[in-house]
Amino acid sequence: VWIVDKNVENLQACTQIVDAAQFLRVGETVAFPTETVYGLGADALSDEAVEKIFMAKGRPSDNPLIVHIADKEQVNDIASSLPEKGAALIEAFWPGPLTLILPKTERVASLVTAGLDTVGVRMPDHPVALALIKQAGVPVAAPSANRSGRPSPTTAEHVMADLAGRIVGVVDGGATGVGVESTVLDVTVEPPLICRPGGITREQLEEVIGEVAIDPAFLPDAAEAPRSPGMKYTHYAPEGEMWLVDGEESRVYEQMRTMLAEAKRHGRKTGVMATMESLPYWRQQQVADVVISVGSRSELEQVAQHLYGVLRQFDDEQVQFIVGETFPRSGIGMAVMNRLEKAAGGRILAV
Ligand code: TXA
Ligand code: MG
Repeated sequence: VWIVDKNVENLQACTQIVDAAQFLRVGETVAFPTETVYGLGADALSDEAVEKIFMAKGRPSDNPLIVHIADKEQVNDIASSLPEKGAALIEAFWPGPLTLILPKTERVASLVTAGLDTVGVRMPDHPVALALIKQAGVPVAAPSANRSGRPSPTTAEHVMADLAGRIVGVVDGGATGVGVESTVLDVTVEPPLICRPGGITREQLEEVIGEVAIDPAFLPDAAEAPRSPGMKYTHYAPEGEMWLVDGEESRVYEQMRTMLAEAKRHGRKTGVMATMESLPYWRQQQVADVVISVGSRSELEQVAQHLYGVLRQFDDEQVQFIVGETFPRSGIGMAVMNRLEKAAGGRILAV
């Protein structure tokens, strides 16, 4: 673990960054913080290096990786062309939590794109990530630095809990900010298509380029398979069985109480994923063994920031049955609900 203070000047010259970057240059894997979640990086131009990412994570090889760059111009080394709307979005949102799907150049390792002729590219908004990529001198392929299927890591501790002994190391720059992954937007199609909702909202994108389509798989009652290869896998899941209950508040609470009591009767350790607003109620009810707030309902950014850490906390407490409320699907709520649905493996009850 290389501990760095993300606020120091000239991070790129810090020995921790120089050391970590050296490992990337020789084809090893290093985890590092971004503004969304921690990533597990390797040289995006080397199939041999990228293969180590798939091995460490236990990731299916048909799920492509995102290439991270340290300045906007570098996109031209990765993508063979840049549509006008893509260029406008780069100006508006890079560095930031927006991944653009673009036609790829030959330089990108074929394992990165899982054989597709497109590639996902983003410039992260985190001083440690940018310093590391610059110092490495190569574009860095990086998925989230969790074991495949687990909640994404928002701290270096999460990374080590999943990957210690399987990677060279992690640059610890503290907790990440956004908390959910970047928005993946395909700008090779018209209108551009959101393949994965994330840190930049549909509303923000539409302010810059007009109409943006959304993969129908993200709307409730989706029948179609998701477009982004990664979206079809069970993901972000805690070890316990998770359920979401959707509907009018008093009925939701009543249903949650019933489910908790039932689980308890079966001898299971139970948990409630509460909000700041519902925390006092659940504390007072004493129907669950573990009650954790994910943040305030009126600040969904907070919920996004805490979501993965809270899911991991339930695992740490060995909770076997978890119930949670749902959130509005607008703004960052779309990404939050997408991750929650995945964590719950689709177990949503409408009351
Ligand atoms: O915020 C993030 O994006 C984090 C940090 C580390 O940058 N990274 C991340 O990577 O979430 P990962 O591998 O966990 O998710 C990448 C997503 C997957 O859903 C993958 O299928 C999709 O991007 N993706 C990558 N390349 C693609 C392509 N060419 N076409 C469609 N989807 C693609
Ligand atoms: Mg991931």
